[in-house]
Formats: sequence, C-alpha cells, structure tokens
Amino acid sequence: MPSLFDPLTLGKLTLPNRIVMAPMTRSRNDDNGVPPALVAEYYAQRAGAGLIISEATYISASSKGYSRIPGLHSAEQVAGWRKVTDAVHAAGGRIFAQLVHCGRVCVPPLLPAGIEPVAPSAIAINGKNWTDLGAIDFVVPRALETGEIPGIVADFAKAAKNAIDAGFDGVELHSASGYLCHQFLDGTINQRTDQYGGSPQNRIRFVVEVIDALVAAIGADRVGIKVSPQIKFNDVKEPDAAEVYPLLATALSERKIAYLHGAKQGGYDVHAGMRHLFKGTYFAGAGYDQASGQALLQAGGAEAIVYGALFISNPDLPKRFKDGIALAPGDSKTHYSKGPAGYTDYPAA
Ligand SMILES: Cc1cc2nc3c(=O)[nH]c(=O)nc-3n(C[C@H](O)[C@H](O)[C@H](O)COP(=O)(O)O)c2cc1C
Repeated sequence: MPSLFDPLTLGKLTLPNRIVMAPMTRSRNDDNGVPPALVAEYYAQRAGAGLIISEATYISASSKGYSRIPGLHSAEQVAGWRKVTDAVHAAGGRIFAQLVHCGRVCVPPLLPAGIEPVAPSAIAINGKNWTDLGAIDFVVPRALETGEIPGIVADFAKAAKNAIDAGFDGVELHSASGYLCHQFLDGTINQRTDQYGGSPQNRIRFVVEVIDALVAAIGADRVGIKVSPQIKFNDVKEPDAAEVYPLLATALSERKIAYLHGAKQGGYDVHAGMRHLFKGTYFAGAGYDQASGQALLQAGGAEAIVYGALFISNPDLPKRFKDGIALAPGDSKTHYSKGPAGYTDYPAA
C-alpha cells in the first residue's frame, strides 16, 4: 500500500515522499518579474516537499496577469530564479516552474505600452483585476489570429528552456484557473471558428500543441500539466467538461509526460474523469489533509497528493505529517502582500 512517505520516481528524479507543494502565487517579486532573495528563502524552507511546483510564472512580457508575479523570459528573471533553484537544491529539494500565459486576465497597465490582452475570443471577464495600481476593470481581449498561435506556443517552449537554464528540474503547464490554456478549453470562452475552436477535439488543440512544444524543448520526463475543470474563477463554466477532459487525458497520456495534476475545484470530478485514461503519474490536489490524501493513495486514486494552503503556514509539512505534529493555521490576508510577514516567518516545528 503506497504511503505519503514512500518515494516516487518522476522522470529522472526520485521524490523522497509523495507530498507535493502546490503552485501558489505569493506576489513577492519585483516589478520586472525577478524573484529576490526572499523568494529563495521561502522555497528553500519548503524543500522537504517531495516536489515543489513554483507559483505561476509568465512566459512573455505580454502574458503577465498580476502585479509582482515572476517571469521567465528575461535574463534577469532567469538569474533571479537561479538563486531560488540553487537554494532549494542546496536544502535537498526539487522544483518545477509553473508556466502561464494569463490571456484575458491581463490588464493593459501590466503589459508593455501598446500591447493588448489576447484570448481565444473577444469576450471579457466580468469584474476587476486587483493590481498595485488599484482595481482595474477587465477589458475585452483581442481574439488571437490563427497565425499568431505558433508564436505563443514558441514562447512557452522558450520559457521552458529558460526554466532549465535557471536550474529548474522541469515545468508544469498551467492549464487551470481560467488562464489562456484553460480559456481555449472552455467553449463559453473560446468561440473560435478555426481549428482551435468548436468541437472538444479542436478546443484541446492549443494545449496539446503547447505540450508537444514543451516536450520537444526539454523532454517529456520534465513536463507536467495542471487542470482544474469548472473552477469558479475567471468566469470558467465548461458545461461539456465531461467530453473535453477525457479527450485531453488520452492525448496527454500518449505524450508520456512526467505527470498530470488534477485539482478538483469545480463540480466536474477531474480525478474520476481523467485518472484512468492517463497512464502516467497522477497528482491529485485541492482540499486534502493528511488522512484524505493517504486514503486516496491507498485506494489507487493518485501517485502523489498536492497540498497548497497547508504548505504556506507549515513549511515543514511532510515532517509534521510524519511526526504527528499539530499544524499551524494560515492567514489569507498575507497571501499576496509584500515582504516576509506571512511568507517566510512561519517557523518549522
Ligand atoms: C495563495 C494561493 C495562490 C495560488 N496560486 C496558484 C497559482 O499560481 N497557480 C495554480 O495553479 N494554482 C494556484 N493556487 C491554487 C493551488 O495550487 C491549489 O490548487 C489550491 O490551493 C487548492 O489546494 P489546497 O486545498 O491544498 O490549498 C493558489 C492557491 C493559493 C491559496
């Protein structure tokens, strides 16, 4: 019976346990998307995780969706991340970079002058994006021309190569939470009439092309993907998730990537819908505690469990689980604030 404390082979890596740290935006980077020393300290404190997945990291200047998130397209960003990955490795850990294009979540003040937010179709999100400049209304994005799509796919591949140059052990494609990849999957957001829209087969095309480009750039054993079907965020709806996600699982399985990370954050049961069709390593996330994570592993429902919020306030979460040490409560007010408070000041037990 697999336990949370059993090792797991992931490509060329051996994870010492099956307790994975979820990708979590923490907004401590500078305005150029460069992680400072504080970020290295934060991740190194959490190096006891079987694997750390970084906060969402934008692939190009035109894909940044929030203030103070990090990037992986400039030399300065790569140098900043190198200090983070070195610190994690020195502390005995392993870390993948989560790659994102925010699509219609981007708002003009976060983008280079004259660059508009882009998306599969010209449909705005209802509501506002909270930035350091205040709350800004989402705008109607420009629908991508079919001929522009290979350039975005290439930006993902370049960012993956940059991630390896920065010392990451691999990358996770962010196809969750209503960002660009997820926008292509959802037929209420993607109303294209070219080969990237319409049928579920067409709507998964963009994500599969990005995965193929990542695999070509850095190798299948260093590529993972996260999905969160029907998450109630960024106007995601996905009425036909039950058709789209099994199709995607099969296409991903054929690519023999390192892992599929399903976060069950909406009505659709992603684990039931994808796990049996994806023949590789499956990570299950969202809402797990030690007992429910252990139970899912034992039932064969996943190879590893992904923990988010618990890792924020418990940097030594695997040790606390193993030794039965009480967990520290977190504070959502400091999730996206500045500086060390609520970030690097949660002590190990
Ligand atoms: C502060 C915070 C930031 C997050 N940022 C990201 C992110 O950058 N990328 C992502 O895929 N998910 C992000 N998530 C979602 C988590 O990865 C995870 O799916 C979610 O927290 C549910 O898992 P949990 O119940 O173990 O916390 C974030 C969650 C939190 C709490």
